[in-house]
Amino acid sequence: MNSPQRVFVLTGAGVSAESGLGTFRDRGGIWSRFDPMQLATPEAFGRDPVLVHEFYNLRRRGVIAAAPNAAHTALAHLESRLQQRGASLFLCTQNVDDLHERAGSRTVSHMHGEILEARCLGCEAVMPWREDLSLETPCPACGEAGGLRPDIVWFGEMPKHLDIIGAALREADLFVAIGTSGAVYPAAGYVAQARALGIRTCELNLEPSDNAAHFDEARYGPASVVVPEFIAWLLET
Ligand code: OAD
Repeated sequence: MNSPQRVFVLTGAGVSAESGLGTFRDRGGIWSRFDPMQLATPEAFGRDPVLVHEFYNLRRRGVIAAAPNAAHTALAHLESRLQQRGASLFLCTQNVDDLHERAGSRTVSHMHGEILEARCLGCEAVMPWREDLSLETPCPACGEAGGLRPDIVWFGEMPKHLDIIGAALREADLFVAIGTSGAVYPAAGYVAQARALGIRTCELNLEPSDNAAHFDEARYGPASVVVPEFIAWLLET
């Protein structure tokens, strides 16, 4: 393979699994224990905000307690090595955690938002947020209580940064999906788009994803092992 100049990486929950953050669709995963329609939609928040806050308060605490693993670190290393070569990495994640940033990645597109940010439905202010949220929490910007929510994307809402993600995908010469089941669009459609554009595609996952047939190549195993191995190999090419 020629040395890639513009690498597009899409990560999912599998990249953070070994940091102790649960995946969604594996056996025992978050959506096998909880109903996403009761917790992860704007309608659910409208119906039962106390329950939704409780669920995301627990998840926020889990993210704060977690630490990046070798897969996050390898991706941060890839970004700086590609930059040194005059090449680039575009890192797009479906994860709402900040483990890529804490491992040293400088630019990360969080298409499903960030759990360590809150948004006020009243005044639309977005701010860093590490504490539990409740209906009593006042918005620091407008002072009103009851309108703060995690600034993440729920089912039925538009993912974020789609314009810059789409542009980066079109310019890429290598597409790599890591730790994602390929079940949630639009991210699940990126491999087919990449292929249609003639971009080489590679999957790194614990096991073949729903989209496995679309990838030119694949490496299977835990992200903490296969991601550093793949990146070491890529940087030698
Ligand atoms: P999923 O839970 O659907 O898929 C996780 C993938 O990671 C699966 O293919 C697993 O095989 C793989 N996996 C598990 N452990 C792994 C490990 N140690 N190393 C490598 N791979 C591993 O998670 P996502 O594809 O990220 O959205 O889910 C996409 C979206 O669905 C999430 O962003 C979330 C969820 O509902 C919203 O909440 C809107």
